[in-house]
Amino acid sequence: MAIIVVAAGSGTRLGGAAPKAFVGIDERSVLRHALDGVFAAAPAQVIVVAPAGREGDAETELFDAAGDRRDLCRVVVGGETRQQSVAAGLGALWGDITTVLVHDAARALTPPSQIDAVTGAVTADAGVIPALSVIDTIKRVHESEVVAGVDRSELVAAQTPQGFPRAPLEAAYAAALSSGAEYTDDAALFAAAGYDVRHIAGSARAFKITTPADLERARLMLTDAAAPQHPLVTSSPVIPRVGIGTDVHAFGGDGTLWLAGLAWPGEPALSGHSDGDVVAHAIVDALLGAAGLGDIGEHFGTAHPEYAGAHGDVFLARTREILSEAEFAIGNVSVQFQGNRPRFSARRAEAESTLSAALGGASVNISATTTDGLGFTGRGEGIAATAIALVHPHP
Ligand code: CTP
Ligand code: MG
Repeated sequence: MAIIVVAAGSGTRLGGAAPKAFVGIDERSVLRHALDGVFAAAPAQVIVVAPAGREGDAETELFDAAGDRRDLCRVVVGGETRQQSVAAGLGALWGDITTVLVHDAARALTPPSQIDAVTGAVTADAGVIPALSVIDTIKRVHESEVVAGVDRSELVAAQTPQGFPRAPLEAAYAAALSSGAEYTDDAALFAAAGYDVRHIAGSARAFKITTPADLERARLMLTDAAAPQHPLVTSSPVIPRVGIGTDVHAFGGDGTLWLAGLAWPGEPALSGHSDGDVVAHAIVDALLGAAGLGDIGEHFGTAHPEYAGAHGDVFLARTREILSEAEFAIGNVSVQFQGNRPRFSARRAEAESTLSAALGGASVNISATTTDGLGFTGRGEGIAATAIALVHPHP
């Protein structure tokens, strides 16, 4: 993976004495913070696009952040627009690079995990952007009139780094160059060339420093993180949190049994609004409960018809996004179901890796038990599951 960090803007809206990338947040500049995040991820090549005349300063920051990885580093001079700056960065890619990330230096506090998540989600034919749900109610306006509401659930706010397969990205940049079109981000340019772009969860810390108030926000975030924790303060933001979730569904659904994210051909199906996957649903409640973010009914219930019939991995992937947007990382999940069937042990590893992948690689342990013929599970009327989950607020 190569990452192009665009830092060639002047920072007009910030109004600092230096170009924005060289403005200090604390004792470190915007660019240096961005690069610290980049090197905490696992880059193969790092290209910084600097304002003309500031190449030397950019190189100093880059080498300091790189430590003993200077051989990965390159500084090039940017252009008049962000798009031209990215194009300049593309010109410096090594021959063997296949995945390219483009990142705004101005998103100085982007968590390294966001960079890794974008890298991991790029495919040979689709780009990936990190994005946040839109919180405010959005209106379309014309002059002073409010013309219409806009359905917020169809909108997300795009962040960086944005990741792309290299050859299509270069083709898209060549097409933009020949048409003279200017796009507001790389994903728009890439999509205009006919390629697909997907989105994954972004994070509040990846906000773009644009105005003096944003710089203040970044400073506060750093001071809060650096503040020594008083030993008697028990509400330290890094204390992990646990949650519990249970779910029960009766047999009697149509089609195939879905359990623990897997289809079980030949087994009687569970009934439910979605696929009746009690294991996945118990995990969703445990995770939402741990993060204090409500429950499955609120986020996935009948008010959300898009989840009717959805499988467990879809529920878990969306739950991870909800947690990530609220700045929670998932520690581990342990879940047990009670039921006479299916016989689970042969597919345990497959189920665990399916659910773990949906949760971004978090550890998932699944066990199964029967109840010695007792109760509704023992009578074979349904399956019950209980999950506990541990989550951490991002420090
Ligand atoms: N950028 C760039 N080359 C340009 C313009 C922008 O490399 N010609 C980079 C900026 O350095 C920044 C990112 O693109 O990291 C996002 O741009 P923005 O936040 O708009 O930064 P500036 O253009 O510097 O700020 P302003 O628009 O307020 O002047
Ligand atoms: Mg700008």
